[in-house]
Amino acid sequence: MSESTIDNRLHEERRFEPPTEFVAQRIAGPELYEAAKDNGPEFWADQSRELLHWHKPFTEVLDWSNPPFAKWFADGHINVAYNCLDRHVEAGHGERIALHFEGEPGDQRDISYAELTAEVRRAANLLLSLGVSQGDRVVIYMPLIPEAVIAMLAVARIGAIHSVVFGGFSAESLRARIDDAEAKLVITADGGYRKGSVFALKPAVDDALEMIASPVDNVLVVKRGGNEVAMVDGRDLWWHEEIAPMSDQHHAEGFEAENPLFILYTSGTTGKPKGILHTSGGYLTQAAFTHKNVFDLHPETDVYWCTADIGWITGHSYVVYGPLANGATQVIYEGTPDSPAPGRWWDIVEKYKVSIFYTAPTAIRAFMKAGRQIPGARDLSSLRLLGSVGEPINPEAWMWYREVIGGGVAPIVDTWWQTETGAIMISALPGVTSTKPGAAQVPLPGISIDVLSEEGTHVGPEAGGLLVVTQPWPSMLRGIWGDPDRYVDTYWSRFGDKYFAGDGAHLDADHDIWLLGRVDDVMNVSGHRLSTMEIESAIVAHEMTAEAAVVGAQDDTTGQAVVAFVILKSRFVDQKPADELVAELRNWVGQQIGAIAKPREIHLVDELPKTRSGKIMRRLLQDIAEGREIGDTTTLTDTSVIRTITTSLDDE
Ligand code: WTA
Repeated sequence: MSESTIDNRLHEERRFEPPTEFVAQRIAGPELYEAAKDNGPEFWADQSRELLHWHKPFTEVLDWSNPPFAKWFADGHINVAYNCLDRHVEAGHGERIALHFEGEPGDQRDISYAELTAEVRRAANLLLSLGVSQGDRVVIYMPLIPEAVIAMLAVARIGAIHSVVFGGFSAESLRARIDDAEAKLVITADGGYRKGSVFALKPAVDDALEMIASPVDNVLVVKRGGNEVAMVDGRDLWWHEEIAPMSDQHHAEGFEAENPLFILYTSGTTGKPKGILHTSGGYLTQAAFTHKNVFDLHPETDVYWCTADIGWITGHSYVVYGPLANGATQVIYEGTPDSPAPGRWWDIVEKYKVSIFYTAPTAIRAFMKAGRQIPGARDLSSLRLLGSVGEPINPEAWMWYREVIGGGVAPIVDTWWQTETGAIMISALPGVTSTKPGAAQVPLPGISIDVLSEEGTHVGPEAGGLLVVTQPWPSMLRGIWGDPDRYVDTYWSRFGDKYFAGDGAHLDADHDIWLLGRVDDVMNVSGHRLSTMEIESAIVAHEMTAEAAVVGAQDDTTGQAVVAFVILKSRFVDQKPADELVAELRNWVGQQIGAIAKPREIHLVDELPKTRSGKIMRRLLQDIAEGREIGDTTTLTDTSVIRTITTSLDDE
């Protein structure tokens, strides 16, 4: 990924000015940069007051007296759900559609702000009746249906903390997250629709709960898939039965700005996922600010669609909190892009007249492969702004996105951010910036970014280095759940007072930023973060495995793909044909982590290349996985290993 990105950058001369009509109507102009310049945290205080309702206005802005533990707006009180719901109804927008829900089988529901508010109040009353209160953790394991959004907002409304676990994760991953957060309640569904059939969720919850020590009082089950599920007496409750008698009256109380809002687990460089902790006032400020300004949101007329699942940070900030805080009308879609036919996404754009569309490069590349006639057969003329997130977008995909989806006119915002940053940090402003295919470009107003050398000095233009954030920002993570030391070590030990993102970046002659991918043992597969260590641990946990090494290899569609090199214990080597052994290991990884972590390839090898000190030479394995020449091998303890590996690769 990185080499081709650099190469493309060198040849990238194209620039696209925002269209005149777009500029005439733009939400954010250059004055936003002016307002932020030299204004420090006060800029964010102004934004927060303008964008949000504070139950008790704050007088303190940023408390950075105990770095890296920030507090924003600490003496203010706020209710996140009230900001996303009630206040829009009170302002007379109750009839406005909040969610156009499209189920994969073709069912649909339009839910207004008034209806969504009433549903969330009922759900909040239900949670309270189950004994959930401020600070309690609630795990949400659901398909992308309205109840998932309702559940998140109901948890937020009562000051509790949600931890959404992506529905593609296995029972074991779910167990680890329930345990780590010591959750009191799990909200799930019987199942959801994916690729034309029902996938079950509830059985994974049952399996997870069988394995855990900590007590989960209740499991609330939304009926969606209609699949048969077992209900445990006294513990499991049907959502529809429990919510029916609940009142739609509920007073939203203000909580302290630093009251935790959610935990979201993400892969790190060790085998154990990190519970990234976000709090309320600062997070909502930046989610709302970025959603409004980066996506040029005109809430009265726009139809916005972000294709992310709520199991990822993009679904938190740009499906739930940002758009609803801004009173947007949006589409949420349960299924996959190609179900029942490859044009499903474009049918949805046409049907709801989507005007702002936010997705990941991996999806764009998959559509490129399928051919332009598929989107070409639909009316996509409603689209006026396109966004990209999750991984670097190569200029070729960027141009295709612009021409085929955006009709050659819609600006593209390539947004760089992370689970940890909570909201967008680097992006063009669509009515201001002259965009460049492939570059995320500029820090947003109020955000301070730098690219540093290994030694911590600014690299200057036309040079590459490590991406850092140099000033605290409102939606920054407040820590790692239960592990403050890991928070400090992971992000702050490298450069002391600067946040180290783990990404490589290049500054071009115009000071525009190009992201070059991760510099640590984290892979980016289809815009999702996976840890090499976590997958290695999973493979090694299988009884057949003696040793394993995992690398992220370049992949034309998914950005990177998981490639594993595995040494089997000798008694298993000839037990079954190699393809059966490989299939067994792939499924095992699926069970241990989830289908997204299944290796694209598993190579059974006799040895792994190691340095004299015994470290696995991942770079070399990556070269092999990507089919490159094998470079200097003098540091290998045994050069014959390479031959073994290349031979086994040739065999396939
Ligand atoms: C990568 C997703 C290049 C990056 C919001 C980061 C990107 C990781 C971009 C975070 C982009 C995200 N260009 N790379 N526009 N956006 N990334 O936590 O490596 O799932 O560190 O958050 O995705 O992934 P996460």
